[in-house]
Amino acid sequence: MRGRMEQLEKLKRIAQGKDELEEALNRALDIIEACDDIESIGKARISVLGKKGIIARVFKKIKDAPEDERPILGQFGNLLKRVAEEELDLKEKWLKAALQEKKLSEMAIDVTLPGRGRSLGRRHILSITISEITSIFISLGYRVVYGPEVELDYYNFEALNTPAYHPARSLQDTFYLKRKDPIKDSREDVLLRTHTSPVQVRVMESTKPPLYVISPGKAYRRDEIDATHSAVFHQVEGFAVDRHISMGDLKGTLEAFAKKLFGEERKVRFRPHFFPFTEPSAEVDVSCFACDTAGCSLCKGVGWLEIMGCGMIDPNVFSYVGYDPEEYQGFAFGMGVERIAMMKHGIDDMRLFYENDVRFLRQFHI
Ligand code: PHE
Repeated sequence: MRGRMEQLEKLKRIAQGKDELEEALNRALDIIEACDDIESIGKARISVLGKKGIIARVFKKIKDAPEDERPILGQFGNLLKRVAEEELDLKEKWLKAALQEKKLSEMAIDVTLPGRGRSLGRRHILSITISEITSIFISLGYRVVYGPEVELDYYNFEALNTPAYHPARSLQDTFYLKRKDPIKDSREDVLLRTHTSPVQVRVMESTKPPLYVISPGKAYRRDEIDATHSAVFHQVEGFAVDRHISMGDLKGTLEAFAKKLFGEERKVRFRPHFFPFTEPSAEVDVSCFACDTAGCSLCKGVGWLEIMGCGMIDPNVFSYVGYDPEEYQGFAFGMGVERIAMMKHGIDDMRLFYENDVRFLRQFHI
């Protein structure tokens, strides 16, 4: 610092009284002083230190100057050159630092701002219900298998002993993707599976008993959407095939399941029913949560709530997959996940599951 001031003083002293030198010094200092960005530093270097710059002009004067003035001109020119270089370097450094500081302050993060809250996602109530159902069966030794949602008529209907004239096969009930002849059964027709039962056939076709299988997934029906119907819904299919399987095994298994899922205090009953692929068939009811069989508005006066369909696998189904019905028997069951979740949690409109309103979804914990 001191050096700079001293050099400047010296320059002033040399220039004193010599108009041309004073002017050269002042102009050089003014130009440097006026620099306010990196670009102007470059320009200043040219006009002060360049070939035709202020200092060059001082040196040019030397050859025409009187002998005794020449050393002064030389000394002045050299010193001015050194001072100008130093000043410009210093200024350039300073401007660069200021620029950097400006950039940094623009990027600065205000650590005092409150953070943005992130609400945690959670599993959907239908996924939770599927897990609850499957884990009960897993604890009973069942394994989980998944089947395709786009299915062949053969697996969805034909091999499940469902004849061509069955109403489920009509265009009103099933989403067909490819259909040849609506009257004859065409096993190559492609459709969206109307239930998860085709997985039974697929598994039996490719695996030998003993089989204890549970299969959750989506099913599709051409239903009008309302509080209890949806064109896309979820089912959990289950079946067991082994030697010496009887209706007693079916009842014991499903009774244990229903009590595990809905509570030990629930009563369970089997009501005769019909499915093309089971014989005999039944529907399983649990005692109404609200009235415990007395009859109320929840169970529409019945006292019981239906939770699934089931039955002993029809020997005709076994013939499609090459099992000998004399050697093997089996039972199967299928339940609607939405229906079960609605019962368990007192939900009265199925559409709530699909609307993704977090105020509804938030209620259900993992
Ligand atoms: N697939 C039947 C349905 O969707 C349910 C069922 C499955 C019935 C297995 C009996 C055996 O209604």
